[in-house]
Amino acid sequence: MDLVVVDIAPSPAERAAIDAVLDQVIGPVRGGWDGGERDVERDGRTARGGREARSHRDMLLPAFHAAQDAAGWISPGALAHICRRLTVPPAEAYGVASFYALLSTAAKPPAVAHVCDDMACRLAGAETVCADLERELGPAGDSGAEGRMTWTRSPCLGLCEQAPAALFTVAGDPPVRRSLGPVDAASVIAHLDAGLRGLEHSDALAGTLDTVPTPERLAALRRFVPQAGDRGLRLLARVGRIDPTSLTDYLANGGYRALRAAIDVGPTRTIEEVITAEVLGRGGAAFPAGKKWAAAAASTARPKNIVCNADEAEPGTFKDRAILEEDPFSLVEAMTIAAFATDAERGFLYIRGEYPLGEARMANAIACARERGLLGPDVMGAGFAFDIEIRRGGGAYICGEGTALFESIEGKRGEPRNKAARSTTAGLFQKPTVVNNVETLVNIPGIVLDGGAEYAALGTALSTGHKLFSISGHVARPGVYETAFGITIRDLIEMAGGVPGGRAIKAVNLGGAAGVFVGPDAMHMPLTFEHAKEMGATLGAGAVVVFDDTTDVLDILRRIAQFFRDESCGQCVPCRVGTVRQEELLARLMNGKPRGSVADELALLSDLGQVLRDASICGLGQTANDALATGLRLPGVLA
Ligand SMILES: Cc1cc2nc3c(=O)[nH]c(=O)nc-3n(C[C@H](O)[C@H](O)[C@H](O)COP(=O)(O)O)c2cc1C
Ligand code: SF4
Ligand code: FES
Repeated sequence: MDLVVVDIAPSPAERAAIDAVLDQVIGPVRGGWDGGERDVERDGRTARGGREARSHRDMLLPAFHAAQDAAGWISPGALAHICRRLTVPPAEAYGVASFYALLSTAAKPPAVAHVCDDMACRLAGAETVCADLERELGPAGDSGAEGRMTWTRSPCLGLCEQAPAALFTVAGDPPVRRSLGPVDAASVIAHLDAGLRGLEHSDALAGTLDTVPTPERLAALRRFVPQAGDRGLRLLARVGRIDPTSLTDYLANGGYRALRAAIDVGPTRTIEEVITAEVLGRGGAAFPAGKKWAAAAASTARPKNIVCNADEAEPGTFKDRAILEEDPFSLVEAMTIAAFATDAERGFLYIRGEYPLGEARMANAIACARERGLLGPDVMGAGFAFDIEIRRGGGAYICGEGTALFESIEGKRGEPRNKAARSTTAGLFQKPTVVNNVETLVNIPGIVLDGGAEYAALGTALSTGHKLFSISGHVARPGVYETAFGITIRDLIEMAGGVPGGRAIKAVNLGGAAGVFVGPDAMHMPLTFEHAKEMGATLGAGAVVVFDDTTDVLDILRRIAQFFRDESCGQCVPCRVGTVRQEELLARLMNGKPRGSVADELALLSDLGQVLRDASICGLGQTANDALATGLRLPGVLA
């Protein structure tokens, strides 16, 4: 793309879409300096508004999404308009736009199917879907003769229970974004076609269920959350029982009792209860939430932020989606409790771009809460201010890493920071910030209501409370399950209906691509942070992918190696180059053409792993070798 910004105009549709987003935050254009008509008398000698506009650089990603949704790509005209309005240099803005897989800086057809070919979808025939699409529409990314539609491969869409799955994006007014499964090539083409004809509410693209809780809805929902409606659940208690779009329903089912209780006991007691509960972060790093909150509360700089990490891009992980789609008000309430406890006034929900339904449900929940005074300048009439903005991710796994997420919200490339300072001191916008995972946060209302001690009695001594697991692959009833910490892998798989056909298990992936593989001999392992550590494994964010004895595990490992190669942000050499070398190594093993012997290749992989662990800035590089190394060790994989 040529980066000259003079005299390139956006189309009227692009301009309208971009301005609709930016006008709300920075006001309408005022002259030639911020993207309007140039008037020599007014704009000839004096620049206005540049500094103010630059202070809204965090609107870069929302503006890009608006342009992408309107035209299907970020055209030079759209980029130039955004740059003028936010006074961001075009080269920098281009660097940001080109970072994200869901944004395109090259012309693309308006209708795109992002077809998942990751772990669970591979097991369910994703390669056949891709081969058929290649025959029907041409190679991935090809726009075909008519240039109306195309398809592309995608890493996990967080829809593993519906494998093989696809995300459909159709640019226009209104734009369509839907993810659904299972798909085959014919249904993918039919969905694209329906989207192009504006049939976004047609059955073909519905993707949304009627929200009123009926037995039919419950039955449908149980294909996603098999325990929906069951008693004894803490985190999924409302799923299937309430209308997720109704604040009235939420309030009638215990909603906002916890915020009221927190306000009654005050911020210090609230944080004490979270500390007593010993709740560990559910986003993968298992950091104590209470400690984080206490540090943020002690920080004096203002304003303070609460960031909810709903990026959930770890392959095989889709448990946060259950909350985002089915109990969104609980997350709004939990974020508000976090804000009250730490005295924060700004909230951001960073949600992956592949979760359109979750984003819509959260946007509705935030709007309803605001309308009822449960967000805003005087929350619940209790004299504190808090509000939440949604930020949609752009299809970059690395943006789930806390500091990369901050950079992404700030309108920069999602590159992790060198962690000189704690986020609770200098996080988002260099201000004190609590960043917590969705599931971590939805534990909070229960802790506030029941007390930290009662919560700490659940699970095990070192892994307290309940945990959500996303189970997929070769199980009869894949989905999101809630159990107390401590259930064994075997019992969890049984809960999910066991392996179809009673086949033997060859491998289980714990924690996704950043996790590890264990073999049938590990089925007795209790799923807790401490047992995982003891066995050299990890729980990650709770992904459990089951592979029966028919699986070509080497093929799965190569997909994981490709994932890291694609998702490395490229900032540090060991990760940028090491992940490419790993993928090449896996390809050689798959093709039966090892360099030297297989033992030589394994030694090389081990060396690469050591360098990645020792010399990478962030967790992506540090864990990029683990699944490959543990998977290759399993019996029968390299036979
Ligand atoms: C590559 C990478 C991806 C991550 N992705 C996510 C994610 O999608 N969701 C999440 O909550 N945490 C993710 N994390 C962990 C976050 O950095 C951070 O620890 C977490 O959001 C903190 O919340 P918690 O303490 O409640 O778990 C990721 C970490 C790394 C290194
Ligand atoms: S380890 Fe990889 S993903 Fe992390 S900062 Fe370095 S290059 Fe980026
Ligand atoms: S949606 Fe395809 S593997 Fe998760």
